[in-house]
Amino acid sequence: MKLFLDTGNLDHIRTINDWGVLSGVTTNPSLIFKEKPKDWIAHAKEICSIVDGPVSLETTTTTTKELIEEGHELAAVAPNAVVKIAMVPYGLGAVKALSKEGIKVNVTLVFSPAQAILAAEAGAYIVSPFLGRVDDIASDGLNVLADIVSIYDTHEYETQVLAASLRHPMHVVDSAKIGADIASLPYEVFEMLVKHPLTDAGLEKFLSDWESLQGQSKK
Ligand code: G3P
Repeated sequence: MKLFLDTGNLDHIRTINDWGVLSGVTTNPSLIFKEKPKDWIAHAKEICSIVDGPVSLETTTTTTKELIEEGHELAAVAPNAVVKIAMVPYGLGAVKALSKEGIKVNVTLVFSPAQAILAAEAGAYIVSPFLGRVDDIASDGLNVLADIVSIYDTHEYETQVLAASLRHPMHVVDSAKIGADIASLPYEVFEMLVKHPLTDAGLEKFLSDWESLQGQSKK
């Protein structure tokens, strides 16, 4: 399962990229709003230049025609740009048109297997079911993900399943067990993922024993 970072923050992208585990980035208007870039397209270009993998840039227009135009603009940002379009009726026509042209589209704000079938049929490159937001309304985001993965396997859809809206490490582990192609996680979840108290305690002991050995060999 590929790991993507869900952010618009350049420092966070550089940090996780330096870990050597970053395969892509997803952004959305709310994440970009937090960064307050003066020039959104320049900011998007910068993200695309850091990451060696797909970078999803979200559309904000509200008709099929506008989405197709905006999709062209976003796809032109960089060769690794992926156009993100919300799962709405007027969005599907744009997904189909852009996909037919060879532009990669990530269909976002997906909350049900029914919506995921529509995304695949429209030719999406990626479908993004939101796990955390389903959990927030006392439903089961992992069940939605499992149904989508199973349907896509049965029908051999090529659309990649990206587990989005991940809130904690077990969302990532369970997404991997279910068979998601990609998990896109916030920076804080990457930090939680790497942490284990036994690693910290074990390393502290190894380093202190090593330091003691250096002290002894000097005597
Ligand atoms: O980028 C889409 C998604 O990952 C948003 O997550 O935490 O705002 O539900 P969240």
